[in-house]
Amino acid sequence: MAHAALLHSALPSTSSAASRRRGRHHRAPSRAPRRRLPRLMASSTAQQAPAPAPQGLKEGIAGLYDESSGVWESIWGDHMHHGFYDSGEAASMADHRRAQIRMIEEALAFADVPDDPEKKPKTIVDVGCGIGGSSRYLAKKYGAQCKGITLSPVQAERGNALAAAQGLSDQVSLQVADALEQPFHDGQFDLVWSMESGEHMPDKRKFVSELARVAAPGGTIIIVTWCHRNLEPSETSLKPDEVSLLKRICDAYYLPDWCSPSDYVSIAKSLSLEGIKTADWSENVAPFWPAVIKSALTWKGITSLLTSGWKTIRGAMVMPLMIQGYKKGLIKFTVITCRKPGAA
Ligand SMILES: C[S@@+](CC[C@H](N)C(=O)[O-])C[C@H]1O[C@@H](n2cnc3c(N)ncnc32)[C@H](O)[C@@H]1O
Repeated sequence: MAHAALLHSALPSTSSAASRRRGRHHRAPSRAPRRRLPRLMASSTAQQAPAPAPQGLKEGIAGLYDESSGVWESIWGDHMHHGFYDSGEAASMADHRRAQIRMIEEALAFADVPDDPEKKPKTIVDVGCGIGGSSRYLAKKYGAQCKGITLSPVQAERGNALAAAQGLSDQVSLQVADALEQPFHDGQFDLVWSMESGEHMPDKRKFVSELARVAAPGGTIIIVTWCHRNLEPSETSLKPDEVSLLKRICDAYYLPDWCSPSDYVSIAKSLSLEGIKTADWSENVAPFWPAVIKSALTWKGITSLLTSGWKTIRGAMVMPLMIQGYKKGLIKFTVITCRKPGAA
């Protein structure tokens, strides 16, 4: 949610291989640790009923993206997600678009999505598609059909216009729909892609179960999302100062309760998904928010923000809290991948 940023919000796989060797990620253990899930900021778990969605959440999300997507696109382009950098890398502004593309490639490599013409995905759904940056990228990369869904009518219209301008209208189509009630048949997609939309979902279990429902047997599910840290065995909730920091971020970016990476793993296990893997990429996104803040403080950034609207400005004001959350080890930029059982 890069924009997430402004407001909420291909690099080669050698880097993935290198980072795998460095042990950046791990397979989920076969049994989830047993502990009670915290009431605050961990709503959507297999074991616990989700807190009700805040009133007007969907309208708020749609309004935020309707209002801010144009500003984001004019400064940052069509990808509304974090960039992926080598840990400790000092990044210049010129690197950021490349880093956003690299984020897509790293997620695909992490999930072992095949490039082989026989096995590569032919049908893709981009859940929480923004203006379709990933949809178009993936459709082009794999020569696939890609459907995208977003809550924002402005994003769907803009994404379809960009697809038409790039000659991709017959491959890419975006529409307004809710990720928790997707307008698709069961088992339709070889690749189910959710790049920085999970944090907006008020019911994480329903979210993952919808991703699983629309995946084809053997299909790959990729979720890249904001989580809070895993709790220690001795903890039943986050600390009060952590809860209060997340609350301020939630208010500005129209986010419901957060959950932890372990919560996602528990949900995926409870849905009998296979090959569950997760990794913490927080260090790899560290240069991103400082760069977003820097771009917001340019003349173009300031004038764009001032003409955009209150939701966008409020989102921009909260950006330093994201940096704080990462530095405290509270916010974890997480990738979770798995497969639906069945023939590949
Ligand atoms: C930060 S943007 C990410 C956009 C895109 N994935 C990208 O990487 O460029 C979050 C997106 O999630 C979408 N979203 C949030 N909640 C949703 C829901 N319940 N159903 C469908 N889309 C949702 C928003 O409309 C927005 O397009």
